[in-house]
Amino acid sequence: MSRVALVTGGSRGIGAAISTALKDAGYSVAATYAGNDEAAAKFTDESGIKTYKWNVADYDESKAGLAQVEADLGPIDIVVANAGITRDAPFHKMTPEQWHQVIDTNLTGVFNTVHPIWPGMRERKFGRVIVISSINGQKGQFAQVNYAATKAGDLGIIKSLAQEGARAGITANAICPGYIGTDMVMAVPEKVRESIIAQIPAGRLGEPDEIARCVVFLASDDSGFINGSTISANGAQFFV
Ligand code: CAA
Repeated sequence: MSRVALVTGGSRGIGAAISTALKDAGYSVAATYAGNDEAAAKFTDESGIKTYKWNVADYDESKAGLAQVEADLGPIDIVVANAGITRDAPFHKMTPEQWHQVIDTNLTGVFNTVHPIWPGMRERKFGRVIVISSINGQKGQFAQVNYAATKAGDLGIIKSLAQEGARAGITANAICPGYIGTDMVMAVPEKVRESIIAQIPAGRLGEPDEIARCVVFLASDDSGFINGSTISANGAQFFV
């Protein structure tokens, strides 16, 4: 039987590429989404991947949704915590609401996604936790105190989970994408986006598939000794 993979925010952008690549690699895949029913239905039509709607910022909703996925597909072996939002503003203009929205979705959302299925992974002695962080968690970013805090937080999460899961056959790793050609990056004002691309030695935005291929590797048995690591995929924009 094929292993089961769950991708949060898995019906659009980088998440859709990840869901599709995992399916193509032979996994049974479930993708979650927060609100865009139309995009999710289109994604399911095109890919054959079932989508589930819940808010990753809510623990009880996440727990119930994860239980439904496991009832439908079987125990989740691979979890890709990808769901994320931006609420960019210079710090002096950032509201408490913008801070909390991003922390709740991007950071608490990782806890809510992994925590309910962690005991099952421990019992079965296998698991792959893959968290989609960001270059901006590594270097910080003007107008992203909230977002950068969550993406740096992801790296603390995977390094800690790696130590807790290693003996139970669970790995926890992060990918830090640079600027990828998704709706999120296209929402940045054009002038700002052009100045960002000028800072990328590769001279272009990344492709969602270039992140998805990293996920497929981290999900595989071949990556079993890689634990607590971060793969940076940013066209040489930033080195840790
Ligand atoms: N570095 C230094 N200064 C900057 C800057 C930067 N990166 N970006 C903007 N500024 C400056 C502007 O030049 C302007 O200066 P002046 O007042 O002297 O003209 C000032 O900051 C902007 O002030 P505003 O009051 O006009 O700012 P605003 O309230 O309108 O906010 C913004 C504008 C939200 C910052 C907008 O410029 C923006 O969206 N910037 C992009 C932020 C960004 O890179 N986000 C990443 C999104 S993609 C992502 O997050 C995916 C991922 O993981 C990589």
